[in-house]
Amino acid sequence: MKSERGLWGSKLGFILAASGSAIGLGNVWRFPYITGENGGAAFVLIYLVFVLLLGLPYMMAEFALGRATQLNPVGAIEKVKPGNKWKYVGLLGIITSIGILSFYGVIAGWTFGYIFKSLFDTGTPASNDFSAFISNPQYEIGLYAIFIIVTAVIVYKGVESGIEKWSKILMPLLLVLFIILIVYANLLPNSSQGIEFYLYPDFSKVGFKTIIAALGQAFFSLSLGLGLMITFGSYIPKSTNIFTSALYIVLFDAIVALFAGLIIFPALFALGENPASGPSLVFIVLPKLFSQMPAGNFVGAAFFILLSIAALTSTISLLEVPVSYLVDEKNVSRKKIVWYVAFFVFIVGLPSALSQGTVKFFTNFGWLPSSLTSADFLSQMSFFFGDFLLTFGALLLCIFIGWIWGAKNAGAEIMISGDNFSKFKGTWIFLIKYLLPVIVLVILVSIFKVTGIS
Ligand code: PHE
Repeated sequence: MKSERGLWGSKLGFILAASGSAIGLGNVWRFPYITGENGGAAFVLIYLVFVLLLGLPYMMAEFALGRATQLNPVGAIEKVKPGNKWKYVGLLGIITSIGILSFYGVIAGWTFGYIFKSLFDTGTPASNDFSAFISNPQYEIGLYAIFIIVTAVIVYKGVESGIEKWSKILMPLLLVLFIILIVYANLLPNSSQGIEFYLYPDFSKVGFKTIIAALGQAFFSLSLGLGLMITFGSYIPKSTNIFTSALYIVLFDAIVALFAGLIIFPALFALGENPASGPSLVFIVLPKLFSQMPAGNFVGAAFFILLSIAALTSTISLLEVPVSYLVDEKNVSRKKIVWYVAFFVFIVGLPSALSQGTVKFFTNFGWLPSSLTSADFLSQMSFFFGDFLLTFGALLLCIFIGWIWGAKNAGAEIMISGDNFSKFKGTWIFLIKYLLPVIVLVILVSIFKVTGIS
C-alpha cells in the first residue's frame, strides 16, 4: 500500500523542500502587507517571538510524529491512537490545505501574470493599474487555472523528481535577487523613513488584532498547523537531525520575510505609497520600483519568475497534503487523484478569483466582521483558513502530540540522530505541553470576545 511513497534524496533536499513549502507568498506578499496594516516594527517583533517560541518547537513536533509513523496526518494519528476521534484533526488539516490552496493559487496567478506585465508594460504604472488587472475575469481565472495545473503536474510526478529538484536550484537565486533589491531600495531618497517604520517599534500601535495577526502569520508562513510537516516528516530518514533541520527552515523562512520587508518598506516611503494598502501592497510598490530601475523590465520579470516559483513550491506542498492522504488511506492511484483534487480546489477558489471587483457579491462578501479582515471573499478565506483554522489545527495537533502520543515519545523521536537536542529537551516539552496550547487557546478565544461573535 505504501509503494507510492518515497524518501528524500538527501538531507539538503529535504531542508530545501520544506523551506520551499514555508517560503512563498506568505513571506513576500502577506508578511509586508500585514506588517503595514499593523503599524510596522512592533508587529514584526511579536511575529519573531512567536516564530521562535512557538513555531520552531511546534514544527519539530510535526516532524517527529511524521517520521515516527511514516504516514500522512490522518494515518499518523490513527496509528498512535487507533479508532479515535482524533483522526478528525488530521482531516481538518486536509480541509484547511484545500481552503488555503484555493485563495493562494489566485494570488500565485497574479504573480505569474506580473512576469509578462513587467516585461511588456513600459513607463510608471498608473495608480489603478493593479486594480484594473485583478478585476479582469479572463486574467483572473486563466492565470489561476494555469497555476493550479502546473502545481498538479509536478505533484503528479511524485516527491523526489518533482519537489526536490526545483527547490534546490531556485530558492538560492531568489535570495540573491532580494539582496540586490534591498541595496537598490535603500539608496532611494526618503527610504530611511521606511526603515524607521519597519524597525523601530512603537508599542502604542499594538492592539489585540496585532497579536492575532502575528500568531496567524507565524504559523502560516512556516506552513504549520495542517499536518503538512507531518507529511514531510514521514519522508525523512532516521539519520536526519530534526532539531537542526527545523532550526534551519525557521531561520530561512524568517530571513526571507525580513528581507522582503527591507525591500518593500524603504521603497514604499520613497515612492510615497501607503503602508496599509492591504493585499495589493507589493503589487503596487514593486512594479513602481522596477519602473525606475535600470533594466527594470527584466529585473521585474526575473523577480516575478522567482516569486512564482517560490509560490509553486508552496502550492505543491499544499496539494501534496490531500493527495498523500488519499494515496495512503484510500489506496487510490496518485496519478488519477491529483487531477480530481486539483479540479476541486480550482472550483473552491473561483469566488476568491472573482472577489476583486469582478463580482459584487464576492467583492463585498463580509461574513466575517470587518474588525478581523476585509470584506472581499479572498481576504475572508485568508483569515478563516490561513489564520483561524490553521492556528486551531496547530492547537489540536499540539495537544495530540504533547498529551495523547506524549511529549516524551515525541522528544525521544527527535533525539534519534539529534544529540544536540538533549540540552533543550526539557524546555521543549514544557513549550509543547503547556506554553503553546495556553497561548494559542487564549488568543483564539479572544477572537470571539474582541469581535463579539460569541
Ligand atoms: N508557508 C507558505 C507561505 O508562506 C504558505 C503555506 C501555508 C504553505 C500553509 C503550506 C501550508 O507562502
